Amino acid sequence: MNASTAFPRQGDKQNSAFFEDFLQRLLRERDTTGLTDMIDEIDAIMITVDPGHSIRYIGELALMTPYHYLVTLESESHWTHILRIDMNSPDFLVREVKDPNTRGIFRSLNEVYPIGASKPNSRYMGEILRVDDLHSVASRQQERGFRFFSQDQARKLELPGNLAISKPSPYTHNIVAYMERPRDTNRVYSLGISKIDDDIQEVYRAAKDLQKYLGIENLILPIDHLATRVYSQNREVAILEWLSLSSYYYWGSYDIKDQNSSTNVTKSVHHTSEIHSPAKVFTANNTPYFVNHLEKLPSPTETFVRNYGPRLHHIALAVRDGETDGRENIDQVVRQIASQGRDFLLDVIGSKEHGLKQIFSSASEHSSLIIEYVQRYGDFDGFFAKDNVAELTHAAGVDEELMALQSQSRFDHH
Ligand SMILES: [Fe+2]
Repeated sequence: MNASTAFPRQGDKQNSAFFEDFLQRLLRERDTTGLTDMIDEIDAIMITVDPGHSIRYIGELALMTPYHYLVTLESESHWTHILRIDMNSPDFLVREVKDPNTRGIFRSLNEVYPIGASKPNSRYMGEILRVDDLHSVASRQQERGFRFFSQDQARKLELPGNLAISKPSPYTHNIVAYMERPRDTNRVYSLGISKIDDDIQEVYRAAKDLQKYLGIENLILPIDHLATRVYSQNREVAILEWLSLSSYYYWGSYDIKDQNSSTNVTKSVHHTSEIHSPAKVFTANNTPYFVNHLEKLPSPTETFVRNYGPRLHHIALAVRDGETDGRENIDQVVRQIASQGRDFLLDVIGSKEHGLKQIFSSASEHSSLIIEYVQRYGDFDGFFAKDNVAELTHAAGVDEELMALQSQSRFDHH
């Protein structure tokens, strides 16, 4: 049996007595009831984009990540494109709605937020977790108070029929789905009619050829972490809820005082390497927006959540440790991708002495997601450097302010 409470605690951020008490109780119960062992890695992540965007988004991902286009599942009102690296890392599901007037629960989550509303169907949906016994996991989670879409609702949403899909979290707005798949078997998504889309295949091939031409095809590794932003008051409950839905443990939290924010990290109990199951990170402001006129502290994280709603903020990809053409690999990757016109929000930050280097790309016009690259040196086993996180948070905030202004001017003219 795994002891989810036995991992050493990192970080300097203080939690409430409520958090510390329920962290122990929830994880112990998860272990003793067998749920920790029944739920395994993140098997896939799911994103929806607006009509016409998946082809260019897949081109972007094929250039900036190690993902390959595999197949498209066509259903009545969606195309679901499956991207894969291999069976050791999560799949990447890109769903495109066919009709811009599509309405539904996921669109509704975007529409109450001023910038989120500008790309109404585009949002990160959540993760699919691999389980050995779908029925047992779903029924135990229901007994613990979690709600799931019914089979009929899942079919209407045109999500794979072999999943148990939770309702969106009130704290992160993400869903968690479970998929039954015995270890060492292939991933199967029961949805629609599968085909290779020739147009997507062409864009994918061109992007992979470009990746090779730029000499970066072996430098970018699978997903390292997924970072979700939540309202300040939801930091602790968002972490506890995710730990209850997954087999992750609480690694620790760092206070990023400069940015009035904290970074909270959870990792898989079953896999030490993030490449096999990415870390899940939650970022929250330390104080709510309505005290800022008193405190006068920067608040890029709370501002992001107010503009987009709680949601995934970035996907971090690992970069292979080492040098290429006399440059550290992360510098090479950024230089080559920037040469193709993609913007980055700041220069590569950090150093060998810090243990790692990191950078944020600009947000994708298709998914609104930022790509982070992170290169760790040698046997550095820390997760991040506080100075780096402060700089990254600041840079993303500046970019987002510009987007907010643009979106504001759009509304004024209408
Ligand atoms: Fe990150």
